[in-house]
Amino acid sequence: MHTTVGIVGAGPAGLLLARLLHRAGIDSVVLEARDRAYVEQRQRAGILEQTTVDALRAAGAGERMDQEGIVHHGIELRFDGRAHRIDFPGLADGRSVMVYAQTEVVKDLIALQLAEGGPLLFEAEVRAVEQSADEVAVRYVHEGAEHTLRCDWVVGCDGFHGVTRNAIPEDLRRSYERTYPYSWLGILAEAPPVYDELIYAHSARGFALASMRSASVSRLYLQVPNGTDVADWPDDRIWDELDARLATRQAPGWKLARGPVTAKSVLPMRSHVTEPMRHERVLLAGDAAHIVPPTGAKGLNLAATDVALLAKAFVHLHESGSTRLLDDYSDTCLERIWRAEHFSYFMTTTLHAAPDQSPFETRLQLSQLARIASSPHAAAELAHNYVGVALPGRPGAVASAPTGPDLGEQAP
Ligand code: APR
Ligand code: PHB
Repeated sequence: MHTTVGIVGAGPAGLLLARLLHRAGIDSVVLEARDRAYVEQRQRAGILEQTTVDALRAAGAGERMDQEGIVHHGIELRFDGRAHRIDFPGLADGRSVMVYAQTEVVKDLIALQLAEGGPLLFEAEVRAVEQSADEVAVRYVHEGAEHTLRCDWVVGCDGFHGVTRNAIPEDLRRSYERTYPYSWLGILAEAPPVYDELIYAHSARGFALASMRSASVSRLYLQVPNGTDVADWPDDRIWDELDARLATRQAPGWKLARGPVTAKSVLPMRSHVTEPMRHERVLLAGDAAHIVPPTGAKGLNLAATDVALLAKAFVHLHESGSTRLLDDYSDTCLERIWRAEHFSYFMTTTLHAAPDQSPFETRLQLSQLARIASSPHAAAELAHNYVGVALPGRPGAVASAPTGPDLGEQAP
């Protein structure tokens, strides 16, 4: 089998790239190690920046998102027993974000690709990606047999544990990494969200986040020690801890609405960047090249902007014969990635209580949060980063020119 662009991995990065290429008349084959049900049910975040919303619309996958997605114009920060709202449009040039779960994004993209796209093979595990002078051979196993997919280009969208990264020679590859001394315990619950926006809470007991999936389903997180076993967290313990961490002085006795817990898992927290993101005919996108801790809600958005840029670069090559945008891809992406890495690190270290944290460090965190609550400049910096920083100047940079209604124009 031969294709123009071989795509390893059918997470949001691989699927969105396949859709964007298909719409531009460029053929691709997607190889995914897991089965369809597994990929569609994997619980991840669900905050979409304007550029992600635009890319999904451009991929033809905007219909259900535009009907069911909920536009959020701010978040609430809770710390030191008080609540402070960050107003996105007022602080970040009219921009907002959309809440639409990554599971739904993935379901929409898979349905479209299977209905009218190039091949998308599940349970096709890639074992090796080998470059020669004018093509790349992707060796994979499907239905018990070994196969080779020959490609002009290969994009590794195979996540942090993928194999494509190994096609960049070790002496040219640089990795930057940080692990955090805490994890998140995440639950899905059939309970109405506590508030109509997300709440990020700093507390002496540790971080908590109240998010949502719909008007009747909450997504809630608690900071827990690394190595935590979910068996030690029965539902009542989780609800009690959420109540304690989200408490404010303004509303004493306030409690979350409880409901059946339908999913429960522990997520490790990590920051990671691999550079460069291209070696000859092999490129990396999404979690294969970079991981952020989820506190800034950047993972999916970085993946989407990587592939939007890549699709544009392949279209440019197809139309003009020039590899200029592909040549710029790694540098262009990395500027935005490092900004998001910093923001995610900042949100994480400002809001969590490290196990060995001194009272001095806690006072610094509270001072920083108080600064954000009292200074429009400090709040604007957070708001701009949260809704997605527009980086000017670089050739081929993903512009924020919308291809559909702007999130800023929709009703709250
Ligand atoms: N062969 C084929 N597929 C593979 C292989 C392999 N050897 N290794 C991994 N994969 C698949 C995984 O099964 C997974 O479905 O690659 C896919 C990678 O998908 P994601 O991990 O979702 O990564 P990405 O598409 O980059 O999406 C980034 O997901 O992890 C979140 O926070 C992250 O929201 C962000 C988004
Ligand atoms: C989520 O809804 O799962 C979510 C939202 C915001 C985050 C992380 C996760 O920062």
